[in-house]
Amino acid sequence: MTQLNRRAFLRAVGATGGAGAMLATMGALGLTTTAQAAAAREAAYRAPRPGDFSLTGRAAASVVVLGGGIAGLATAYELGKAGYRCTVLEARDRPGGRNFTVRGGDTTTDLYGHRQTARFSAGQYMNAGPARIAQWMITLDYCRELGVPIEVFTNVNADTYLYNESAGMTGPMRYRAAKADVFGYVTELLAKASDQGALDRALSSDDRERLTEFLKDYGDLGNTLEYTGSSRRGYSVWPGAAGTPGVVAGDVPSASEIFASGVGRYFAFEFEFDQAMLMFQPVGGMDRIPHALAEAIGNRKILTGCAVTQVTDKGDGVRVAYTQGGRPRAIEADYCVAAMPPNILAKVPHNLGSGVQTALEAITPSSAGKIGLEYRSRWWETDHRIYGGITETDLDVTHIWHPSYGFHGERGVLIGYYNTGANADSYAPLSPGEREARAVAAGVKIYGEKYRSELASSFSHHWRQFPYQEAAWHSTPGGPDHPRYKPLTQPSGRVHFAGDWLSYMDAWQHGAFSSARSAVTAIHQRVLA
Ligand code: ALA
Repeated sequence: MTQLNRRAFLRAVGATGGAGAMLATMGALGLTTTAQAAAAREAAYRAPRPGDFSLTGRAAASVVVLGGGIAGLATAYELGKAGYRCTVLEARDRPGGRNFTVRGGDTTTDLYGHRQTARFSAGQYMNAGPARIAQWMITLDYCRELGVPIEVFTNVNADTYLYNESAGMTGPMRYRAAKADVFGYVTELLAKASDQGALDRALSSDDRERLTEFLKDYGDLGNTLEYTGSSRRGYSVWPGAAGTPGVVAGDVPSASEIFASGVGRYFAFEFEFDQAMLMFQPVGGMDRIPHALAEAIGNRKILTGCAVTQVTDKGDGVRVAYTQGGRPRAIEADYCVAAMPPNILAKVPHNLGSGVQTALEAITPSSAGKIGLEYRSRWWETDHRIYGGITETDLDVTHIWHPSYGFHGERGVLIGYYNTGANADSYAPLSPGEREARAVAAGVKIYGEKYRSELASSFSHHWRQFPYQEAAWHSTPGGPDHPRYKPLTQPSGRVHFAGDWLSYMDAWQHGAFSSARSAVTAIHQRVLA
């Protein structure tokens, strides 16, 4: 088959047999190039088009979407492409849900009644929710399609710090030094074990030789197979002009000391398929995505300040009651997509059946919190030579993020904690001032006094204690295809469900987008049938 015929054939298979048939056919044809794989991925989802209705005698329906987070917005955006009349009900005064970028002037009140107004200066922001995007995620496809510019988000940086106080570390260690030492000693042990014959049953002599070559290179070992430090640790005096060869950072810990420090526990993070560099962020804040979606949908179709109070499947349509500014209202539509957090939806009266309710209640909410610390100077760049990336700790602040925007600017916002579970819950009840004081005290241990003295203002956010959300993400034990969640992965009458919590990429916008696509496809097929 010529390239062109092949493509036409595949398109025909895709049109009649669906993406599964198309992928199977592509496999049979041996089409395994990157371009073909990308084509297959794209074919796996096709947005509804106005032309789909020609000759069917059908027409686009009306759809009420519950929740203006990424899943709800993506649903309305995709259905809107084929002329569906969508209305999005959003409880808050802004679209985006957990995609929340905090800028100066933004105000929140949590369930404890803590009211905060961010005092970040112009151009400074914190992404309180999602903040990083992997290259394979369809979130980037939406950024491209919607014209949202992106930039690199530095997820891993050899110049950030690792600090395990509970292991007795008296100061932070640079990531690069920790890697050099851990890999140095691990490879030394393995190389020596192999050299002394300990692996002879598993390895041929050729294997052994190749392994030794690899280990010497990977761990920067000498010919004696010893690790004695390495320029990979960094320098106390950096190399420069002739006469300045540099001084390699000394004080190489012993193998026993480096293992006791526990620094190696952070290395596997960057191996994860969802966290590996490069990662990306929208320029100017993650909320550029929901704003672009809202614009594309038509802002007037997104009703903010509207909290859903009842969902009724009427057989031939759906009725949704809600309040707007305290006043009861209702809307009727042919279909409904419930894209609210499951824990919030579970509190809304409905007639969707006990199976739906049981499934919603089986999904458990998780905690996470962040504090943005705005500084009057970017001392982490000037004093510590850290440009973006994450410092990892065993303190209750857990992760400290350096901003991946505004380099060399006057000010910057550090994420002073990004913590989860019990650590997040221990900060949540504190007043914003107490949260700040506790986070700053932790940071001072790692970075010194400027962490306190240069601070201009802070803003903290805890998702489990945030109205209309009450969760940072959710746990669906067994995965979304477990029979327990079947009442949610299929429609209940004319109500469909969508959200990252119904995907294998929970806690990622990718999951919300892909779940929305799945609901959109199901509704469109139904309407066309
Ligand atoms: N997706 C979230 C993160 O990257 C959980 O931290």
